[in-house]
Amino acid sequence: MSERVQIAIDGHSSTGKSTLAKALAKYLNILYLDSGAMYRAVALYQMEHNLSDQDLINRLEQLEVSFNAKNEICLNGKMVENEIRKMEVSNRVSGVAQIPEVRKKLVELQQKVPQSVVMDGRDIGTVVFPKAQLKLFMTASPEIRAERRYNELRSKGEEVSLKEVLENIKTRDFQDENRTTDPLRVAEDAVYFDNSDLSLDEQLHKAIQLYHERA
Ligand code: DC
Repeated sequence: MSERVQIAIDGHSSTGKSTLAKALAKYLNILYLDSGAMYRAVALYQMEHNLSDQDLINRLEQLEVSFNAKNEICLNGKMVENEIRKMEVSNRVSGVAQIPEVRKKLVELQQKVPQSVVMDGRDIGTVVFPKAQLKLFMTASPEIRAERRYNELRSKGEEVSLKEVLENIKTRDFQDENRTTDPLRVAEDAVYFDNSDLSLDEQLHKAIQLYHERA
């Protein structure tokens, strides 16, 4: 593969973007990068240090967000993959993702990735990689997404109710779509991908087909 491949998978929260992105990256033998994990890591930092938004902005320069060799998210060198998935972080992350200074820092880091990559997030096709060879916009009904996320959290032993998860999903949809800086929107050249009724195999098959058509 001589040309650098960039594949952008955006969409609503808990639509299975990362599952599809990982499977596609594996199939193409390229890197997968979870941009949401980066926003979650910043939210975790704010939470752990009990910082106001302004304090967080003031400390951004000292904050290092990276991925280790196992592709796990690290905050100032410490692996925080498990901490960032907790409900408390999910409830806070949309607020952090609205801060323009945070977005600027993370977008710059994402754009510096030197190799071929499948990246999932909210603004990958619109802001981070506007020239991506393939852009998918994933969605599914809030109820289906809540059920998937609920099962995932429960399997990790987290005590949550389905109602709480559904509310969190709806709130995040609203905040992601309505923030001033880089809101979630469908890129003009993105393929709309509703996976409410598709298995992972079917999604992967469709994504591979689209990639070959476009790349
Ligand atoms: O994909 P996720 O649920 O892990 O993302 C966590 C939050 O980060 C989500 O509420 C929106 C935000 N986000 C963003 O604003 N831009 C991205 N590229 C990725 C995530």
